Amino acid sequence: MNIYSKTVMDHFQNPRNVGMIENADGVGEFGDPECGDFLRVFVKVEKNTIADVKYQIRGCPASIACASAMTELTIGKNLDDAMMITDDDIVNALDGLPEFKVHCSALGATGLQKALVDYFQKYVSKDGMERDIAGSLSGDL
Ligand code: FES
Repeated sequence: MNIYSKTVMDHFQNPRNVGMIENADGVGEFGDPECGDFLRVFVKVEKNTIADVKYQIRGCPASIACASAMTELTIGKNLDDAMMITDDDIVNALDGLPEFKVHCSALGATGLQKALVDYFQKYVSKDGMERDIAGSLSGDL
């Protein structure tokens, strides 16, 4: 019996938005020291909205599905809403994960947040946003 939902298997077998973005506005990397899995997230931002997200990953089936689902949750969202995407949001979008695989969702959520922080640190003043927003976000991670 498969331990994964049909949605997890679909994302694992047909991962969405795999790859890299040339001249990405933000890049974030995150690895799980327990298992050695690793994710690199690229974001493209237009008018405070996530225009594109892509990723490169070395990981288990659940982490690949989580990264794929994260991109679908993120593209089209404004920066504030994208920054609020959580592990639980990713798990729910996949119709659940086995308890021992829930930690894999952190790869997607944290990788995304790090890419957004990278964006804020590079471009926040160009977009007229407050400089201390980037500072507070960096401090949270
Ligand atoms: Fe490493 Fe899933 S077992 S992220």
